[in-house]
Amino acid sequence: MNNPVMILVADDDRTIRRNLVLLLKSEGYATLEASDGREALASIATDAPDAVLLDLKMPGRDGMEVLAELGPKLADLPVIVVTALGGSAVAIEAMRRGAYDYLTKPFDLDEVLITLKRALRQRALAEEVKALRSRADESPAAPPADDGEDDGPDLVGKSASMREVFKAIGLAAATDAPVLIAGESGTGKELVASALHRHSDRASGPFIRVNCGALPEGLIESELFGHEKGAFTGADRQKPGRFERAAGGTIFLDEVGELPLSAQAKILRVLQQREFERVGGTEILRTDARIISATHRDLAREVAAGRFREDLYYRLNVARIVIPPLRDRPEDIEPLVEHILRRLEHRHGWGELTISPGALRVIQERSWPGNVRQLENTLARAVIGARGRMILPEHLDVDELPDTVIPEAAATDSGEPIPLRALLAEVERRAIQRALVACQGNRTKSAERLGISRRQLFDKIREYDLHP
Ligand SMILES: Nc1ncnc2c1ncn2[C@@H]1O[C@H](COP(=O)(O)OP(=O)(O)OP(=O)(O)O)[C@@H](O)[C@H]1O
Ligand SMILES: [Mg+2]
Repeated sequence: MNNPVMILVADDDRTIRRNLVLLLKSEGYATLEASDGREALASIATDAPDAVLLDLKMPGRDGMEVLAELGPKLADLPVIVVTALGGSAVAIEAMRRGAYDYLTKPFDLDEVLITLKRALRQRALAEEVKALRSRADESPAAPPADDGEDDGPDLVGKSASMREVFKAIGLAAATDAPVLIAGESGTGKELVASALHRHSDRASGPFIRVNCGALPEGLIESELFGHEKGAFTGADRQKPGRFERAAGGTIFLDEVGELPLSAQAKILRVLQQREFERVGGTEILRTDARIISATHRDLAREVAAGRFREDLYYRLNVARIVIPPLRDRPEDIEPLVEHILRRLEHRHGWGELTISPGALRVIQERSWPGNVRQLENTLARAVIGARGRMILPEHLDVDELPDTVIPEAAATDSGEPIPLRALLAEVERRAIQRALVACQGNRTKSAERLGISRRQLFDKIREYDLHP
């Protein structure tokens, strides 16, 4: 008979430890226990468990320190972090330090078992591969000495899909590969890009953002690559571009789908050869900037339509992080509302801002075509309407979405089919039309009211063939 698979449970909470041990034993695993980080490290060194369930917040040496201490050993030892600490920073940092996965407390026992099985299977596979070709070790980067805390804005989200996003950020942060962030307007693409930078080895270097959609075509190249004195009228001295300023750090090409083809060719050259010239210059400059890009467009479709270079698409898209729209992760709405209210309190110096259950329900029932940004704008207006006191349904400017848009079929038990996509599209179309009417056709105001960008509004007007 084979030796039983051995799992180390490291948690300072005795009850949790005992529950996990009982669960694991009932599944035929052998178990070890540790009540703090030091014990965990000792047990890993002497008992050589096959996998570890690791709590983060423990007295003495905490889980992050255990991960740091294990360092390269984590390639062979799956560690599943189990933590009550919310927030993306912890998740991202744990993954970056080499944890196999992470689960949040209170956890689902089935989820623990499934994750553990997947980890063990993957480890068995990895060992097979290693036995087949005992390859040379590439030395992994030393983990930084910080404690995983981060001072940048946190990403909020408890849905399974946002957890995948946090994990993807952590994994990408450990490499230098180009990353393409995809997601609708207002889903948090810029926030994800900055989290990726802050958790990478380049965190102490610059993070330079370029809004490719906002730069006039004639200026893009000189902005990106700089220009020499006299390169064009008005170029009265040499100016370094953003690629130069991003040296040692990250350059974030926001709305990369808006780049004209001429600039696309130059970016491709940077990606392929890491070199460029200033506008009007002949000197070849080299860059080590890490490239992160983002777009709200379906770039594959832009490629098919001939508006985006296919070769550039593949170069940018080495790693990909897709942020799902808010309507696909309703669980995130409540924590986001809390987070936004705390930020508004801070910004306005108000006392504690609260929201009534009824108002929260109204928010949860909406589809938020402008995603988190629209939610933020709606709450900011509601807070003012509520004069800093409790937000009630009537403070929510949701008149664009009267209940009557829900067709009878959806509202009753008639058993008729409910075409969800068409329904959502209809709600969106009406909301946009109303906003346009209310703002007398002024698109900037309408976009603001809807909490979406002007560009997104233009796209929607075209999509729904509206005539403001
Ligand atoms: N998961 C999140 N947690 C906390 N705040 C978020 C989250 N996602 C988005 N936000 C907030 O929503 C707003 C929009 O985010 P961001 O600008 O990153 O989105 P975007 O995808 O780049 O949108 P746009 O297409 O409008 O440029 C920001 O104020 C950001 O702080
Ligand atoms: Mg953006």
